[in-house]
Amino acid sequence: MLSFGKDLKARRVEDCRMQRTLINKTDLKVSRLCMGGCPLGGYGWGQINKKDLINAVKTAVDSGINFFDTADTYGLGESERTLAEALGSRTKEVIISTKFGVRIENGKTFYDNSREYLFKAVERSLHRLNREYIDLYLVHYRDGVTPLGEVAESLEILKQQGKIRYYGLSNIHESDESELATFGENNPFVSFQDEYSLACRKNEKEMFVFRDKYKMTPLTWGSLGQGVLSGKYDINSKFESNDRRSRDVYVNFHGKKLLKNLEIVEKLKEIAKIVEKPISSVAIRWILDYLENSVVLVGAKHPKQVLENIQSLDWYLTKEQVQLLEKISKE
Ligand SMILES: NC(=O)c1ccc[n+]([C@@H]2O[C@H](COP(=O)([O-])OP(=O)(O)OC[C@H]3O[C@@H](n4cnc5c(N)ncnc54)[C@H](OP(=O)(O)O)[C@@H]3O)[C@@H](O)[C@H]2O)c1
Repeated sequence: MLSFGKDLKARRVEDCRMQRTLINKTDLKVSRLCMGGCPLGGYGWGQINKKDLINAVKTAVDSGINFFDTADTYGLGESERTLAEALGSRTKEVIISTKFGVRIENGKTFYDNSREYLFKAVERSLHRLNREYIDLYLVHYRDGVTPLGEVAESLEILKQQGKIRYYGLSNIHESDESELATFGENNPFVSFQDEYSLACRKNEKEMFVFRDKYKMTPLTWGSLGQGVLSGKYDINSKFESNDRRSRDVYVNFHGKKLLKNLEIVEKLKEIAKIVEKPISSVAIRWILDYLENSVVLVGAKHPKQVLENIQSLDWYLTKEQVQLLEKISKE
């Protein structure tokens, strides 16, 4: 949690407009706002325009964002390809995380952390990303079969070959903890991704443990609750059938959960007015202030969203504002 005792002035000095942090146990100094690459897959987010996506990436780099997240499954590789196309030679300026471990074949999804599949997946991602190495390679989902020690051994081989620089986990589960404990002080997984926002705090307890006990940097996904915390949706909002949020499983937009989210949005609006910032940036700022050492992943479909979201970076919420949002979002 945020240590409010830390002198605000000192924090401002260590800070720059694009606040950066070191991913634990690495030399990767990343912007605390990472551009999420799910919409870059061009699939499942309603209306998407490729030119806007490319410009969103360029705007992010121009604004100082140096961290981009993607996965081999997003748009079945399209997200990695679009990211490479948008970055062009500027790929050298940024840090990229991508993921393996989910196979989608003939419309069916399988989880596979085997060495055989991993070695194929990394080559395909490198090819699509048009890169010689991946900075941070994440196990997207565990397959329930391959022991974590074995996954780490396979990833170490890729590291020694120079194909990846560091590796981590995603969608952590309590059961990962006992396996991580076997590494003791030498846990080689440097970070983890999990869903976390004012709209989703169900993973919070585990996240503190993974961050503090296993020294892994938290990367939050769904940080705007898939967009609901931007303040542009209400009880009557409808999604197209090609938008994942039309499905009940995207709970943030349905039933009681939507009503609760809209209450949170009302508070965000009040604070946004006081601090004169976009609502989305207040929602992001809360994570940055509350979950210390975290990096916040946010998907964006066009440059305007990027420009709004980066406004989360050059200021702090007051202790009272953090606590107010903490209280109202408690699950
Ligand atoms: N490890 C995993 O399993 C996992 C799972 C999911 C995501 N992720 C990663 O985390 C990233 C972030 O999660 P997410 O993209 O699912 O959800 P998110 O960041 O909470 O929401 C992204 C969506 O919010 C809307 N939005 C963004 N900025 C906005 C703004 N300023 N104003 C209004 N609307 C705005 C956009 O959609 P609309 O404009 O259509 O509303 C955008 O696509 C992903 O892109 C991906 O890289 C990882």
